[in-house]
Amino acid sequence: MIIAIDGPAASGKGTLGRRLADHLGLAHLDTGLLYRAVACALIDRKTALSDIAAATHAAETLTPEQLADPRLRGAAMGEFASVISAYQPVRDALLAFQHQFARQQPGAVLDGRDIGTVVCPDADVKLFITAAPEERARRRHLELQNRGENTAYDTILSDILRRDGRDMTRSTAPLKAAADALTLDTTHLDAEAAFKAALALVAARTGKTDLAS
Ligand code: CDP
Repeated sequence: MIIAIDGPAASGKGTLGRRLADHLGLAHLDTGLLYRAVACALIDRKTALSDIAAATHAAETLTPEQLADPRLRGAAMGEFASVISAYQPVRDALLAFQHQFARQQPGAVLDGRDIGTVVCPDADVKLFITAAPEERARRRHLELQNRGENTAYDTILSDILRRDGRDMTRSTAPLKAAADALTLDTTHLDAEAAFKAALALVAARTGKTDLAS
């Protein structure tokens, strides 16, 4: 079974994806980490983010070990990732990695921006996770504080809005819900409630009603 989860910045896709994967015994890939790792490789090599050839090379030579770097979760890396993720050759280079991950048995949960539309158009279930920008900024603010990063709430909110704008308007694999995606607005749901609601959608879409119990 393949579950595709897409949605805007800090919508809780990663937390939800991990919980669904654990519950269903599936593997989980936060595809945002791939783009963050490519950006991080460029920063480490002191290479400009505008260097498409270097970004493509970093994507082609990416190893799974690079995804464990705690620096990837920082606010700055999300911004840098959004810049290099607009390059078509970078996206193409990361596609094989994602396809291979999705093909494993008994299945996988992948979360990102274009999973239901480009990476796994045949996924068994497609979820599009949204939440009001202010609520997403509140959650990201808390998450960054817990990491020891003291970015102001207003800065986080404007970063999120700018990044969403860039992700939705880029010409290659823009952020959007697939036509057959089920949308879940988590503005008023905590992580547990969002997990239960998502599980109910998976059960309904697959016809496996026992999954939700
Ligand atoms: O955790 P958050 O939602 O803030 O970001 P992320 O999922 O780690 O993604 C970081 C950036 O990578 C996004 O703003 C997108 O520009 C890009 N991305 C993408 O283009 N396609 C994906 N499948 C995943 C992430």
